[in-house]
Amino acid sequence: MTSIAEIAPARGADIQAIADMSRRLVEVGLPWTWTPERVMRHFRHPDSLVITARSAGCGTSVLAGFAIMHFGDDIAHLNLLAVESAHQRLGLGRQLLSWLEHTALTAGTFTICLEVRARNPVALLFYRRLGFVETGRVPRYYSGREDALRLMRDLRHT
Ligand SMILES: CC(C)(COP(=O)(O)OP(=O)(O)OC[C@H]1O[C@@H](n2cnc3c(N)ncnc32)[C@H](O)[C@@H]1OP(=O)(O)O)[C@@H](O)C(=O)NCCC(=O)NCCS
Repeated sequence: MTSIAEIAPARGADIQAIADMSRRLVEVGLPWTWTPERVMRHFRHPDSLVITARSAGCGTSVLAGFAIMHFGDDIAHLNLLAVESAHQRLGLGRQLLSWLEHTALTAGTFTICLEVRARNPVALLFYRRLGFVETGRVPRYYSGREDALRLMRDLRHT
């Protein structure tokens, strides 16, 4: 099932909500590291993009998801991506990632990498479904407590 979402760069007014979503959806059971201050640093950084998915309906638009990506010289790093529970499984995560992938290709960047909690099976299914492959494991990556799996995708080989 696919939902129509408006994908666009975040606004300053979204920063608090994005940090809250990170705490509720991504950093569950871990210390809160994606605070509003940290999200704001990426929002202002010239090589980072913070984007949002707004789901339209009944004349209103609600913040349904977001993603944060940092663009390096050769590699784009996906820092965070989350979709609100009520909007999951409607294609919004796929749309957010697709938007960033097109942006990376336009910038001449062909590789996307990311870390994901090793104990996040849904995220692993999601990223594998979208063409990411596992390249390694980083012990105790998250606050010294939990391992990460490192994933990457070569955008030239779709
Ligand atoms: C992972 C996450 C971003 C996926 O977002 P989403 O909008 O629900 O994903 P989509 O609807 O675009 O799904 C794309 C594909 O991923 C796979 N997928 C997504 N959620 C899945 C689930 N719960 N179970 C199995 N497969 C799943 C499916 O193959 C799906 O395609 P399909 O619906 O056609 O079968 C979302 O579950 C989420 O925000 N989770 C909490 C935060 C998180 O873990 N973020 C990632 C680490 S930063």
